[in-house]
Amino acid sequence: METKKKVQWISKQEFGGEVIHGMKIGRKLGFPTANVASSSPSLQNGVYGVQVHLNSKKYEGIMNIGFKPTIGSDLKHTIEIHLLNFEGDLYGQHLKCIPLFYIRSEQKFSSLHSLLKQIKEDKEYARVVFRSENIDQNKRIS
Ligand SMILES: Cc1cc2nc3c(=O)[nH]c(=O)nc-3n(C[C@H](O)[C@H](O)[C@H](O)COP(=O)(O)O)c2cc1C
Repeated sequence: METKKKVQWISKQEFGGEVIHGMKIGRKLGFPTANVASSSPSLQNGVYGVQVHLNSKKYEGIMNIGFKPTIGSDLKHTIEIHLLNFEGDLYGQHLKCIPLFYIRSEQKFSSLHSLLKQIKEDKEYARVVFRSENIDQNKRIS
């Protein structure tokens, strides 16, 4: 797969936060997410490619900021990150997140199946971008 669409680089402030317990639906669906407790970063709701710093290591991930309209209507604003190459328990740990590129807006899907299909595409797209660009924080276009 190639990135046919132009990569939308962003240069927003990094933010940090503690990983807290979410509803754990993502885990059941095969994409565990780290829910991050942070005062809202200066980003509009949506899905982003991010770099995460955790325990002196860097990881690549995809992040959703928003209200998860597909799941429910309790309108709680959340920041959730799925790390692309990580398995393990992150609860209670502090991470730093650097937003790198915008992927899409948050949507209300008609089923969990459709949401999952879209997240798989987000993942594939992000992998291609991470692979094709030697991404480093300094390369971000401002
Ligand atoms: C990359 C990514 C994209 C997402 N996109 C959407 C979306 O477009 N619409 C939506 O309702 N939820 C979206 N979500 C949130 C999922 O609904 C959520 O991760 C899932 O319900 C699991 O949450 P939990 O771990 O708190 O249980 C996204 C999550 C991730 C990680």
